Amino acid sequence: MQTQNLAHTIIVTGGAGFIGSHLVKRLVSNYPDTLIVNLDALTYAGNLENLKEIESSPNYRFVRADICDVETIKQIFDKFRPDGVIHLAAESHVDRSITDPLAFAQTNVLGTINLLRASQELWESMPDRFNGKKFHHVSTDEVYGALTPGDGQLFRETTRYNPHSPYSASKASSDHFVRAWHDTYGLPTVVTNCSNNYGPNQFPEKLIPLFINNIRNGRPLPVYGTGENIRDWLYVEDHAEALDLVFHKGTPGETYNIGGLNEWRNIDLVKALADTVDSALGNPAGQSRQLITFVSDRKGHDMRYAIDASKIERELGWKPRTEFIDGLRQTVEWYLNHQDWLDSVTSGAYKEYYEKMYGNR
Ligand code: NAD
Ligand code: TYD
Repeated sequence: MQTQNLAHTIIVTGGAGFIGSHLVKRLVSNYPDTLIVNLDALTYAGNLENLKEIESSPNYRFVRADICDVETIKQIFDKFRPDGVIHLAAESHVDRSITDPLAFAQTNVLGTINLLRASQELWESMPDRFNGKKFHHVSTDEVYGALTPGDGQLFRETTRYNPHSPYSASKASSDHFVRAWHDTYGLPTVVTNCSNNYGPNQFPEKLIPLFINNIRNGRPLPVYGTGENIRDWLYVEDHAEALDLVFHKGTPGETYNIGGLNEWRNIDLVKALADTVDSALGNPAGQSRQLITFVSDRKGHDMRYAIDASKIERELGWKPRTEFIDGLRQTVEWYLNHQDWLDSVTSGAYKEYYEKMYGNR
């Protein structure tokens, strides 16, 4: 495959995951003069099936690697000499962070530092140094802590960091390291902090795909606590559009909050989801609501997240496009039409397939 005529190279980490795969597909299609290198370890959350549509595109490459592996990352950076990095690879599930916090410190903090160092060393060795380069760190609104329902407050870029879970603490720490690399070494970094995403290809451990999968299998829908916690939901392709914009147009050193302007109490969302699945399957009205079961609350469960996305709208002209009801319907239809995908990611069958194709990491 010819790649030498391509004008730019971007390494996207975590490109086989949920958000990363939507971003990679968008970049491969929209920037034919840019080589998109998807660097992913293929943990339980990474799945190359997500990228089938573009896997043989001339401007796409996949490299299996762990972002914590210092030597391998250095070799990959030396080989591809990227002018941009968009960093999404992470351990991303709050519940897992409560049972295995060290894995989150390892990947989210040390892995990020390793990528910052690899970018810095490569770019400092190039004649035009940091000129025309960018390191984009993809982060979460959870670093800001929790808001109170009904108080009218929103997370702004200036909101004080106050993470509560090991996941959000590890992401907060990585955000600080990214800013340290900007302030100490002059690395041209941008940070985005986004609210909860939903859409196709999300691993069925997160609320929406888990509950669609449970309804499909007639299993209970375990709502934590009283279900009054609030999240601000954004359709994943709207997030991918925002990332594209910030990577290409965002000002180095800046942070941009990204959100759906779309707050839902979990219990209301779960009812709407159950009704959407029933309507798609032609079930009697209210059938799937009967699966709702209240279970013990998550430890340290943040009450409310909500983003003020006015900076990215004002400065870069982005706002969410997808109406929640449309996005939810499309999402439900996607999972119901891709039951093989759900079965393979929950059975682990796809892992065996990748081990055969790519070997152990
Ligand atoms: P995901 O769990 O679906 O995907 C993570 C990807 O990273 C997987 O492909 C996995 O194989 C890869 N990965 C994990 N550890 C790795 C390692 N050590 N080396 C290389 N690759 C590794 O996550 P997601 O939901 O797509 O989230 C992507 C990013 O966006 C994360 O940084 C997350 O913090 C952030 N984010 C997510 C949301 C959300 O709602 N999902 C919201 C805001 C921000
Ligand atoms: P989740 O999708 O894990 O995202 P996050 O914790 O990053 O916001 O959870 C979304 C909300 O749904 C959160 O308030 C926890 C709640 N939840 C449940 O009530 N039951 C579940 O089984 C899961 C996975 C989440």
